[in-house]
Amino acid sequence: MALPIIEPFRIKSVEPIRLTTREQRKELLEQAGLNVFQLHADDVLLDFLTDSGTGAMSARQWAAIMEGDESYAGSKSFFRLEAVVRELTGYQTIIPTHQGRAAERILFEVATKPGDIVPSNTHFDTTRANLEYDQVEALDLVIPEGLEPRTRHPFKGNIDLGRVEALLKDRGARVPFGMITITNNSGGGQPVSLENIRAYSALLKRFGKPLIIDACRFAENAMFVKMREPGQAEKSARDIAREIFRSADGCTMSAKKDGMVNIGGFLALNDEGWVEAAKNLLILTEGFPTYGGLAGRDLEALAVGLEEVTDEAYLRYRLRTAEYLGEKLRAAGVGIVEPTGGHAVYLDAKDFLPHLKPEDYPAWALSAALYVEGGIRGAEIGSVMFGKRLPDGTETYHPMELVRLAFPRRVYTQSHFDYAAEIICDLKRKAREVHGVRFVKQARWLRHFTAQMRWA
Ligand code: F0G
Repeated sequence: MALPIIEPFRIKSVEPIRLTTREQRKELLEQAGLNVFQLHADDVLLDFLTDSGTGAMSARQWAAIMEGDESYAGSKSFFRLEAVVRELTGYQTIIPTHQGRAAERILFEVATKPGDIVPSNTHFDTTRANLEYDQVEALDLVIPEGLEPRTRHPFKGNIDLGRVEALLKDRGARVPFGMITITNNSGGGQPVSLENIRAYSALLKRFGKPLIIDACRFAENAMFVKMREPGQAEKSARDIAREIFRSADGCTMSAKKDGMVNIGGFLALNDEGWVEAAKNLLILTEGFPTYGGLAGRDLEALAVGLEEVTDEAYLRYRLRTAEYLGEKLRAAGVGIVEPTGGHAVYLDAKDFLPHLKPEDYPAWALSAALYVEGGIRGAEIGSVMFGKRLPDGTETYHPMELVRLAFPRRVYTQSHFDYAAEIICDLKRKAREVHGVRFVKQARWLRHFTAQMRWA
């Protein structure tokens, strides 16, 4: 008999969540300009907006917090974190930052120049925005399967090596380094195979270019490799993660994901030229190199989190959560990105709301409707996030219209996911009642955070 995969922890501290009525939620969402980012979190029942910084820390992490050394320079908490990151990644220098995008910003400022091109499988929105801010082209070269929500492939996050090679041959002089996002968040939380990372790195090396990993969800990616990649099942998830890092030359890390902490990040590098410039910029914008915008206690909690996250009982339960919700939705005919990714389930809004056109922003409309129906907050990954208003007033649209339900780590239980499944399946039955949305106001950068919308 196959036993259910249970939450491999018991709960020591709880936080109440508040039930609201449908009428209240309708009103609250109107006040928020139909933008779930603008809601008060207190008015949300199940918060699947992000898995970033929203996880529960373990008893060991809370204990480590008390060990935090708050010395301005040379804090022992930094050296503890440095040792853990070196063991895990093999990279020489670790530069703590307050979160992932600070690591990105620093790396891009020291390692790119206007007109450069940085390829990746899919750049996350902050990564893309930080590159574009520096007038660098952020080029997404995920394999074609990665753009087809319904196509099943074990490693839909893989980068298209043929297109990378063509880029390096045609415009290689403009490529300072390559990146790869593991797991591929914007493409559905899909993993990248170890083989693909190795081959990509070797290809870049042939052209003298380093590889930088966007490593936010490295542990989930490593577990997928263990479970899906031929020849990897016998290795531990940690050893696989160690191999992944050692196939590349550095990483940017948002520790708010697989660092299992509420705030934090780092840039880890081998290249000494970049390191010196990065440290100087760090001092200017984040802080002294042994704390980089974090408290000593944050560094301690992160050091423990980076050890706990590769625990296979945890990772098995973690990946099972998305799979479990995915099975329930699929059984009810709800279109999702297949197969389910690591940290989230992605609803295919084009399939859910077939009566809406791209200019109706179907994924945005679906995220708004989910909140009204059940107090569930998800995030649009579609044309509001990735489309653009051009100077001539025309709009560009994203090929995929997804709503991401991202799961905070160690926070919700199976009955929360049962509730979510019921709400989504019920909404599916009355999907025709959901209207499209129109922009009332939008910002130039990262417009999804502040957009004001109205129902069409
Ligand atoms: N890279 C990826 C793949 C991410 O998913 C994120 C953040 C970042 C970089 C930036 O890290 O937030 O610490 O500055 N993703 C969050 C999310 C916001 O909801 O997926 P950050």
